[in-house]
Amino acid sequence: MVSRVIPVDEFDLVIFGGTGDLARRKILPGLFRRFLSGQMPAGSRIIGAARSELEGDGYRQMIADAVAEFGGEESRNKKGLEAFLKQLEYVAIDARGEGGWSDLAAIVRQDVVQAFYFSVAPSLFGDLAERLHTNKIANAQSRIVVEKPFGRDLETARELNQTLAAHFDESQIYRIDHYLGKETVQNLMAVRFGNVLFEPLWNNHYVDHIQITVAETVGVGGRGAYYDKSGAMRDMVQNHLMQLLCLIAMEPPGQFEADAVRDEKLKVIRALQSIDHHHIVRGQYDAGPDGPSYREDAENPRSFTESFIAMRCHIANWRWAGVPFYLRTGKRMKARSSEIAVVFKDLGHTIFEGDEARHRNILAIRLQPNEGIDLQVTIKEPGPGGMRLIDVPLDMTFADALGDGAEDVTDAYERLIMDVIRGNQTLFMRGDEVEAAWAWTDPLINSWEARNDVPKHYDAGSAGPEDAMMLLHRDGRKWREIKG
Ligand code: BG6
Repeated sequence: MVSRVIPVDEFDLVIFGGTGDLARRKILPGLFRRFLSGQMPAGSRIIGAARSELEGDGYRQMIADAVAEFGGEESRNKKGLEAFLKQLEYVAIDARGEGGWSDLAAIVRQDVVQAFYFSVAPSLFGDLAERLHTNKIANAQSRIVVEKPFGRDLETARELNQTLAAHFDESQIYRIDHYLGKETVQNLMAVRFGNVLFEPLWNNHYVDHIQITVAETVGVGGRGAYYDKSGAMRDMVQNHLMQLLCLIAMEPPGQFEADAVRDEKLKVIRALQSIDHHHIVRGQYDAGPDGPSYREDAENPRSFTESFIAMRCHIANWRWAGVPFYLRTGKRMKARSSEIAVVFKDLGHTIFEGDEARHRNILAIRLQPNEGIDLQVTIKEPGPGGMRLIDVPLDMTFADALGDGAEDVTDAYERLIMDVIRGNQTLFMRGDEVEAAWAWTDPLINSWEARNDVPKHYDAGSAGPEDAMMLLHRDGRKWREIKG
């Protein structure tokens, strides 16, 4: 498979928080890969901006180290790295004061695409947006990129939206949810809207239920202070899982275009019903052989924050009425495994005598690891012995199906940054979408806080608390196995 790299226009990308963790782990190694692939035009520049009083050479060395640490195979390309570093600059800046802004104004060009990546605490968004304008750096075509967490509830998200809207039009704002940049997440749209097979079945006549699982093996050690104020609901469900839910459940948009797609996603979020607390299970991991407990990781012995959550949701519209969507996500689980499984209904009647097994078609979209799709179908077990039926997966692991090309799966961040430069907002969240997502999650969080709900314990390395299993058992269903 030949990868098709479409060069973007020449750009100046300013990364506020350019010395931070995200910049070093994801943004710059990703940009380096794009540089190597030839997508970054020669004159383009990446300008790191942060508080540290660094010289350009000091910054370039920092990024060279980061690429060596986080850049994978490509980082061995020394010549490429040298050339890439020549396109990097650094400006020491005081986000809340005047220091450095005239230097930045002198560097950033007005006649190329301008993007400003706010890889900083949301409390600085307003200061940055304002100074970009008062110093006449940003213009009506500039783009700004903001990270999650986008607020911690509806009120704070609204405030952030208003702060940004004071200086930038919605068409200039790119709110990143890196799940939308994942290869398989985009494939989900290709599968749904590029095939005739699935659409007729994609509704409550044929679908029994849908499961969305995002299981991680990592704990929260190292970022416990942030995580303990968020929990799995704010950290994962309000954004990543809800985005997956939207893509699975939305109506086909008229075209694959930013507002058409986002309008349809918004309708799904608005159609989500509130959830009774009996249909939500929150959990916290215990210590295990591989690490401390959640409370130790979070350094909060009395924490009631959830590191795991499972829930049953319903979407109140004609397509999905009566179809449960089961969502679960957690840290320190038995495997790193994320998938969406569409479980179809049983056959109403079997013609095969003696076959009492319950055969089901399941379409499983694997996000990670082994990105791919498999469709469970029922066939005759080969060989003699009559009409014995078994379920087998028609497995399409992209790495097998697409050969070498599939190994080159782009990291979500690099894809999304290139979309910013291209001016394509399809894979970014619109302000109203984020607000609607908080409007749905806020009452659920408020309700368990008001009840002083205590999360259930679960063993590190397990599939989560027992109660999460019961959530489906009560409905006569079961979770799919979590396997890496
Ligand atoms: C982040 C969350 O947004 O996504 C983390 O803050 C989580 O807690 C991460 O670990 C998961 O991303 P991925 O791409 O590794 O599935």
